Amino acid sequence: MRKNPVFYSKNCSLSSSYDIIGDIAIIRSIPNNPSSLREIGKFSRALKNFNKNIKTVLFQSGSIDGTFRLRKLDYMLGEKRTCTVHKEHNCLFSVDLEKCYFSPRLSHERWRVLRKVMANEVVVNMFAGVGCFSILIVKWIKSAKVYSIDINPIAIQFMQKNVCLNRVYGKVIPLLGDAKVIIGKELQGLADRVLMPLPERAFEYLSSALLSLKKSGGWIHYYAFEYAKKTESPTDKIKFSVSKKLSSLGVLYDIPFSRIVRSIGPNWYQVVIDIKIMNIPDRF
Ligand SMILES: C[S@@+](CC[C@H](N)C(=O)[O-])C[C@H]1O[C@@H](n2cnc3c(N)ncnc32)[C@H](O)[C@@H]1O
Repeated sequence: MRKNPVFYSKNCSLSSSYDIIGDIAIIRSIPNNPSSLREIGKFSRALKNFNKNIKTVLFQSGSIDGTFRLRKLDYMLGEKRTCTVHKEHNCLFSVDLEKCYFSPRLSHERWRVLRKVMANEVVVNMFAGVGCFSILIVKWIKSAKVYSIDINPIAIQFMQKNVCLNRVYGKVIPLLGDAKVIIGKELQGLADRVLMPLPERAFEYLSSALLSLKKSGGWIHYYAFEYAKKTESPTDKIKFSVSKKLSSLGVLYDIPFSRIVRSIGPNWYQVVIDIKIMNIPDRF
């Protein structure tokens, strides 16, 4: 019987944490517990033997970093490449894992947001990557339209490719540039819903999200990172800071939903809050 790599990795004190994206497996490192190359090699072979669909094994040797949210990947074994096609909720996502951000761990969150979208909605995805949220939405809600912004030109190229792969021409509009600049120039007052999947900078871009909503309001899906001690709630902390900002701008709002998306380190969390905006003040 083949060994399950999760157990195998514990035996050789390697992280049990790995992602499978298309036919590529990425082994992730554990901070403060550097693994030896030999152990990573053993784990790579175990993974590949365990899952015959895996054609390439890569090792993530640094954290996700920089404006484009990229990671350093070291080749371990199999076919020497970083491009693959990942299937999720009946959509295909072509991606270069070295040059674009992609996480299969957001799959549940993408599905959760998609289920909120109503017929004929106009959505602005401010930080769209290769277009996962955007394509998923229009694939399932045929009458929706998504303006899909990213600052990484290679992510935009893959987004265009994914529009073709999923045959959603004209429904996802890829836009290259800074979300703040693009919204200011061409996407003011048109959205029913805004997605903000860039936790590091969501607070800074909140005013732009408001600017892109219709005057009558709409929804903002706001992602953030938050530190919280055992006695604190990370979602409450984010709700507090966002509420303060929205009140200072004179916006009427409600935050009916929040949840921890995932734990990202000791006492650190990725959180999402769904904000219902009831009005956009005239000065916006
Ligand atoms: C966490 S990833 C988004 C993930 C994506 N929503 C998904 O589901 O795969 C954040 C993305 O924001 C992009 N980005 C960073 N700063 C930006 C900005 N100022 N304007 C637009 N996009 C930006 C990065 O290039 C990256 O692709």
